[in-house]
Amino acid sequence: MSKKTKLQNLNDMRVQSLLGGGQDRIDTQHKKGRLTARERLDLLLDKGSFREVDPFVVHRTHDFDLDKQKIMSDSVVTGWGTIEGRLVYVFSQDFTVFGGSLGEVHAEKICKIMDMAMKNGAPIIGLNDSGGARIQEGVVALAGYSDIFLRNTMASGVIPQISAIMGPCAGGAVYSPALTDFIFMARDTSYMFVTGPDVVKAVTHEEVTQEELGGAGVHSEKSGVCHVAADSEADTLYLIRKLLGYLPQNNMEDPIFVQSDDPLRMDEELNSIIPDDANKPYDIKEVIRKIMDNGQFFEIHENYAQNIVVGFARLGGHSVGIVANQPSVLAGVLDIDASEKAARFVRVCDSFNIPIITFEDVPGFLPGTNQEHHGIIRSGAKLLYAYCEATVPKLTVITRKAYGGAYCVMSSKHIRGDLNLAWPTAEIAVMGPDGAVNIIFRKELDKAKDAAKKKAELVADYKEKFASPYVAAQRGYIDDVIEPKETRPRLINALEMLSNKRDANPAKKHGNIPL
Ligand code: HXC
Repeated sequence: MSKKTKLQNLNDMRVQSLLGGGQDRIDTQHKKGRLTARERLDLLLDKGSFREVDPFVVHRTHDFDLDKQKIMSDSVVTGWGTIEGRLVYVFSQDFTVFGGSLGEVHAEKICKIMDMAMKNGAPIIGLNDSGGARIQEGVVALAGYSDIFLRNTMASGVIPQISAIMGPCAGGAVYSPALTDFIFMARDTSYMFVTGPDVVKAVTHEEVTQEELGGAGVHSEKSGVCHVAADSEADTLYLIRKLLGYLPQNNMEDPIFVQSDDPLRMDEELNSIIPDDANKPYDIKEVIRKIMDNGQFFEIHENYAQNIVVGFARLGGHSVGIVANQPSVLAGVLDIDASEKAARFVRVCDSFNIPIITFEDVPGFLPGTNQEHHGIIRSGAKLLYAYCEATVPKLTVITRKAYGGAYCVMSSKHIRGDLNLAWPTAEIAVMGPDGAVNIIFRKELDKAKDAAKKKAELVADYKEKFASPYVAAQRGYIDDVIEPKETRPRLINALEMLSNKRDANPAKKHGNIPL
């Protein structure tokens, strides 16, 4: 073969490899409102930055006549590229090839790229569009997934792992994402389930659509499996690019610094944002936007457990993670879902050196049989544990209520809060005035001629004593009481003061967070 023919041969193979399962299947993918594996990478990565590896890999299976269908690159495209100039490793499953299913070589390709991401300390982004383990390859496919699960676990807390669900994903194609830090889904075109509707029908006789079983709505509102639900595939990929801006390349680095707003800016409106009536709601997201750089807030789990708000922002150019009780949903109470949502987020921030800012306005844990029977004790303990073990800078602002166990949990001084501030509207007590008076003055109230009048007096006394931040401030549990408008410059100053913070937990194999 002449050199010219060899070059021609290479180019022909490359063109063939780019076609995946062929034009017909590509057209079907487009008709379903989905992009191909390669089109997605083009949108995700900086223009022209993608470098593919293993384009010539083909499967080695003979069973079920598979040897008659060898497709170059198999059902996944792998390589690296950049996002805003920063290195990332990627894999993008190709549904046009055996439904993106994962066999031996597909797994080998992903493992190779994961190993490179770990060795070189850069995030890995998986674009998942797969029916899971390739049925025709049997246990070899299961072994392949197991190899990936192990790598997901080893990479956890070392490099950011981000998963996008871009099509109908089942089996291992949801369990690997479940081990990663963030799961994005595209509304109306992506689904996640352990087994698809056909298997569900065969096993349980339940008839259910892919959307009902595992659409973006289900997972971003009910199960909480999905962290970010985007409006389209393009939006999903755009949001992944945005998220990466808040994360470091790996656990040995800090996130990048991007100053773009006046660190001394104060917003007068913060001084009047808390309603006079302590039981009236307000939107904590408004508070967050007024304090953070350029009013920007990248929310995680926006539609799940909305009584707590978590997400990323910049403060004086520093990337920060925000955890905030939301008084406008269930009065900001901590329940099972809110505790787990926040605990997970705190651990992500701590893994990746992102300071945590906590805005606290919480009436306590949600009482009742439903919560008790489903394990609020265990779930609340997860959040407590996560805050206790976190060694990143922890800044807390009590805007209003800090009642009971929730006071301890929400990054209090006692569990290594670095700077604990309160607004003058803060109320720090074991419980709200009504409940407290009913318990400690039960006998007096029983005996009183006019119980309502007596109760009003006792509540007023209690409020006078506890409905302020000053008892805590006298003891140094609160470092300072500040005007709300000062919050931004005070937090930025604290972040800078803490920029060399060193703190560690005792040496151990690993802690035993109450899972
Ligand atoms: C081999 C598969 C496949 C699989 C899909 N295909 N899944 N091939 N192994 N796991 C093939 C189909 O045969 C079909 O090929 C093509 O991909 C497209 O699939 P369709 O069914 O036509 O597409 P759609 O109607 O969109 O449905 C997609 C789907 C469904 C919901 C993903 O295919 C499905 O339910 N697949 C099985 C999912 C599943 O139960 N996986 C679990 C694997 S166990 P042709 O040639 O006809 O176009 C697993 C264990 C991991 O992963 C360990 C976990 C801890």
